[in-house]
Amino acid sequence: MAGLKEAASSYWREKQVSHLTGAQWGDEGKGKGVDEAAQFVDVVVRTNGGANAGHTIENEYGEFKNHLMPCGFANPDVLNVIGAHVVVDPIQLITELDDAQERLPSSPQLVISSQAPLVMPWHITRDELREKSKGDASIGTTKRGVGESYSDLALRDGFLVGDLLDSEFAEKFMRVADAQDKYMRLIDGEHLVSEVDLTWKEGSISTLQGEIYTAKKKNYLNPEEELQKYLAAADRLGPLIGNTHVRVREAFDDGKIILGEAGQAALLDLTNGTYPYVTSSHPGVSGFLISTGLGAHEVDRVIGTAKAYMTRVGEGPMPTELQDEMGDYLREKGREYGATTKRPRRTGWFDAVATKYGVQTAGITELMVTKSDILDDLPYIKICVGYEVNGQQFSSMPDFSVSGMENVKPIYKTMKGWQKDTSGIRNFSDFPPEAKEYFGQIEELVDVPISVLSVGPQRDAIVYRNDQ
Ligand code: IMP
Repeated sequence: MAGLKEAASSYWREKQVSHLTGAQWGDEGKGKGVDEAAQFVDVVVRTNGGANAGHTIENEYGEFKNHLMPCGFANPDVLNVIGAHVVVDPIQLITELDDAQERLPSSPQLVISSQAPLVMPWHITRDELREKSKGDASIGTTKRGVGESYSDLALRDGFLVGDLLDSEFAEKFMRVADAQDKYMRLIDGEHLVSEVDLTWKEGSISTLQGEIYTAKKKNYLNPEEELQKYLAAADRLGPLIGNTHVRVREAFDDGKIILGEAGQAALLDLTNGTYPYVTSSHPGVSGFLISTGLGAHEVDRVIGTAKAYMTRVGEGPMPTELQDEMGDYLREKGREYGATTKRPRRTGWFDAVATKYGVQTAGITELMVTKSDILDDLPYIKICVGYEVNGQQFSSMPDFSVSGMENVKPIYKTMKGWQKDTSGIRNFSDFPPEAKEYFGQIEELVDVPISVLSVGPQRDAIVYRNDQ
């Protein structure tokens, strides 16, 4: 049997091009997977999303909180790429870059796609205002301006990272900021207030209207101040901006090992997830392709992280959600609180139907199962093997829009728990038989093999099946 390090190295280097994404609703532990991989691969490409993603990395230099910085940042030999399908908040990225440069012995090798959409100050304000204006129908976004930046891209009205280098950037910024002020007022319903809330005072009506409007006018942005920050960001990030498709292609042609690092997960995909309770990008293999410029035939495998139970943060359907003591138990023991927003996550039993759908639609070929150790003490564990809809039973996703998941009743199989501490296990053969049975059940239902298991937060709490 090879040592853990050899097993890890041979796993991460056995294929040239891999993508790592979440198979469920996010927070499955991708961060740990990419941290681990970053010790062995040559290139890490962040493929989608923006500062809505977040994970905490602990290494010999301390604790880092990354939202945009790819996970290979601490390894001086790794080329870190922010791909074309990532929305880049330059102010956030500089915070992370500053932190890394201050504490690491060498500055991360980083290249940022000139094609990536920028998150502008008004995107963050618009995200907040839109969520507020939706009231009970809000999605529960992370308020990082992600959806707003992608929507301006789709309108062909956005700023790209490459625009930071444009000599007319400042002029365009001020022009757009002015128009955005009006748009934000619309989203906020401010225009209504200024029209209906007029009280008569002595003086001419026109003066009176002007006075009231001025009195009520909110400042959504301070464009001059924001512009200065973006100009400083342009100076700082300028040398790091490039054509990342070309850089990735060169690495590919040189035989380098390339890893895609997704943000979010399959069931939050804009098109394939539980719309509208989704993010605005493509975490699966499609996002990898547009972010790297590689072709589908050049991807060797897609590794999906799947938690041994379900969690979800924000609104939207979650058939196996447990709003009881068991749900609280999973939340507390699993420390299920959002890395970006600190919100408590919703918790539930493993949903094989939803996970299989995520696996299929994201192109996942194998699983990294995480946090099975959280189930260690349970006398029994339920697994959702099917859905019941209007008296009809389904073993895979029924033929309806996934938003219809709101109305499904989970069908459970109850399995015996293993009731043993598995956090110290490093070889698959050492898992108790009940745990092996649980993993076997997941493989059978989701229909892809489990190749890696994570049994604790520490870096070495990991089990590679290639080690057996
Ligand atoms: P947005 O991506 O901030 O627009 O949020 C849209 C939905 O995706 C919300 O339900 C968020 O909670 C969810 N979401 C966004 N990023 C993550 C993540 O990294 N993990 C889990 N959920 C996320």
